[in-house]
Amino acid sequence: MGDFTAANAAPAPSTAGAFRIVAHPSPATEAERIERVGDMKFGMSFTDHMARITWTADGGWDDRRIEPYGPIPMDPAASVLHYAQEIFEGLKAYRWADGSVWLFRPEANALRFQKSAWRMALPELAVEDFMGSIRAFMSVEKDWVPTAPESSLYLRPFLIGTDVFLGLRAPKKVDYLLIASPSGPYFAGGVKPVSIWVEKDFHRAGPGGTGSAKCGGNYAASLRPQIEAGARGYDQVLYLDAATGLVLEELGGMNVFAVRSDGSVLTPVLNGNILEGVTRSSVIQLIEDQDLKVVERNITLAELREGIDSGEISEVFACGTAAIVTPVGRMGSDDFEVTVGDGQPGPVTLAVRQRLTDIQYGRADDAFGWMQRVV
Ligand code: COI
Repeated sequence: MGDFTAANAAPAPSTAGAFRIVAHPSPATEAERIERVGDMKFGMSFTDHMARITWTADGGWDDRRIEPYGPIPMDPAASVLHYAQEIFEGLKAYRWADGSVWLFRPEANALRFQKSAWRMALPELAVEDFMGSIRAFMSVEKDWVPTAPESSLYLRPFLIGTDVFLGLRAPKKVDYLLIASPSGPYFAGGVKPVSIWVEKDFHRAGPGGTGSAKCGGNYAASLRPQIEAGARGYDQVLYLDAATGLVLEELGGMNVFAVRSDGSVLTPVLNGNILEGVTRSSVIQLIEDQDLKVVERNITLAELREGIDSGEISEVFACGTAAIVTPVGRMGSDDFEVTVGDGQPGPVTLAVRQRLTDIQYGRADDAFGWMQRVV
């Protein structure tokens, strides 16, 4: 660990007391845990416990607990199963070289969780409960945070309507859960450029829709285009706006940036259809901190194509919590196919990725006060 200062260097006081802990009767053995923690696949294995809070219209948020990870029995009429009353978050716990464990801007996730809940007519979880659930959970599951480079404990908080009623209404019963998966990066194989299919037939979000909410439905809707892009040999899908079909929005699960040859950077402006990525906003701040300009505005596909063809746009990258910062090497659609730059990760992409991960893993000064110690 380097010589640096971190704004939140002491572990935050634990609110674990507010959560009763129901220990797993047969937790993973040490050997099983070591095997699962060492597995670098994203989102495939899970820890022994989960956090849970139940909300009812009459009683509010109640029964904060850490309980054994396992199936959640549900009435077949539960509203999430019919009307997709679901939202989620994704954030990571990072193991530093001295063994301590840190979160990256968790309050930003807590606030976005509230915004998503509002949009989906779900009750808003207090930031203190969101944070308290993570702290209580981490106090039990700290040994599950991996140590391998670029690995982390991926935390997945989510909220589901468990109301037993087939009428369409805001649910009167909701469950908040937090599960966690020791994971490597979303894209295996290091900083390998991905290819992107620009989707013209399907849209991810429309004006006034749920595009800026982190709700499962947005991701479900991205699967058909993703399968079709995969069949054409592309890794990911980039969506255009539904109103004109001309303007870039985002990928199925990541925001997108384009780097100009003068080092300035463009990214689609948050227009209500785009997820307000925590990584997106951090990348903007990191790039601006290097005295490079970031412009958030509408970017047309035509401008992007011309820029890549002329060399005016030299790099494209995607970013998100799971994907970190991922270079884009190739883009195509039904009427074009372009290699971005020389198809290899560019210097601005690599530098911002390095700066971000250096902060997240405690290798660099946390000048923005983003990191919070939990263990
Ligand atoms: C994340 O980056 O945390 C997400 O929620 C995206 C998902 C596709 C893994």
